[in-house]
Amino acid sequence: MKDRMREAIEAARYAHPHPNPRVGALVLHPNGTVVGRGVHQGPGESHAEVTALIQAGSAAAGGTLVVNLEPCNHHGRTPPCTEAIMESGISRVIVAVMDPDPNVNGKGIARLQQAGLEVLVGVLEAEAEKLDPGYFHHRRTGLPRVTLKAALTMDGAVAARDRSSRWITSPEARRDGHELRAEADAVMIGAGTLISDNPALTVRLEGGSDRRPIPVVIGGNRPLPPDARLFERPAIVFSPRPCEVAAEVIVLPGRAGVDLEKALVMLGERGILDVLVEGGPSLARSLLDGGLVQRGVFYYGAKLAGGAGLGPFGGRFESLGDATELQVEDVRRVGADVRVEFLVEGGS
Ligand SMILES: NC(=O)c1ccc[n+]([C@@H]2O[C@H](COP(=O)([O-])OP(=O)(O)OC[C@H]3O[C@@H](n4cnc5c(N)ncnc54)[C@H](OP(=O)(O)O)[C@@H]3O)[C@@H](O)[C@H]2O)c1
Repeated sequence: MKDRMREAIEAARYAHPHPNPRVGALVLHPNGTVVGRGVHQGPGESHAEVTALIQAGSAAAGGTLVVNLEPCNHHGRTPPCTEAIMESGISRVIVAVMDPDPNVNGKGIARLQQAGLEVLVGVLEAEAEKLDPGYFHHRRTGLPRVTLKAALTMDGAVAARDRSSRWITSPEARRDGHELRAEADAVMIGAGTLISDNPALTVRLEGGSDRRPIPVVIGGNRPLPPDARLFERPAIVFSPRPCEVAAEVIVLPGRAGVDLEKALVMLGERGILDVLVEGGPSLARSLLDGGLVQRGVFYYGAKLAGGAGLGPFGGRFESLGDATELQVEDVRRVGADVRVEFLVEGGS
């Protein structure tokens, strides 16, 4: 059954249904052949289980439904999946992981069991969670999952003293960075990066992309350049004080600049589950200090800065105890550079 569950997970891997979860489903005939497949494509669209059951039709009777996330048992934009499953004549349901959404959270499984269906939960549970970490993090905490991205010299500088930072890494690493953007629902930068780099923050991939992560700027006391490239499309600016730019401005003063936790809560309320933070060091430090970072992707360019320049976090390092513990998830070469992906302790 693990192979079938892997198939369901892989089917959903490249879907972008946020704020809903990535879900793939298969319907197996009692003889084991696949008679229905479904992937959820987003709010208002049919759920993966329902698409697979419709495709299977009467061949679902006595069969098995394989799905990476617990089926829902509540009326949202679409009717409950549990009803469709019970009506289909399916006799067994295999689920990878329970849905932490308070509207579901065991209720879907309980309903199916009450109706006399055999339900098996926990097949490839860890893989299913990794399919959509932003969803699980958001439903458990109310906050989007935050990934920090940085391009560094091999000795850890993200910019020279004159603030220039283009280009520390190779075109291959920059292309990989666009893949990261394509996964994100929003891309966030600080005022310093907006002022010195004026990035577009668009997804530029070979063959094009229909991904449009929302640009988010953490503004400060300095005026923001009104003609910044990212204001050419709808953007959100969080600012400690009112400011006039061609974007939605949300005034959210905190102890030092913008209250970043509240800003993330507000993004989560808007269905943004994955935020990619692309700098700079001051914003990265504040997020890390606030315990708001779950993951990092660092690209180490094949260059040495020689000890000067800006580090990826504008913070202090008084003693080893100040260090944040990490779990290295992946290390690989990208072009001439090295890409390191890590989780911050307790991250996802
Ligand atoms: N190599 C890389 O991967 C990379 C990526 C991005 C940026 N960079 C480089 O980083 C440099 C810019 O870094 P930076 O540290 O000056 O700017 P930053 O982190 O992009 O922005 C920091 C600014 O955001 C505002 N802010 C408001 N609330 C804040 C809060 N709670 N925490 C932190 N900041 C808050 C403040 O603006 P006010 O000062 O106006 O109050 C603050 O100075 C540039 O040289 C850029 O090229 C490198």
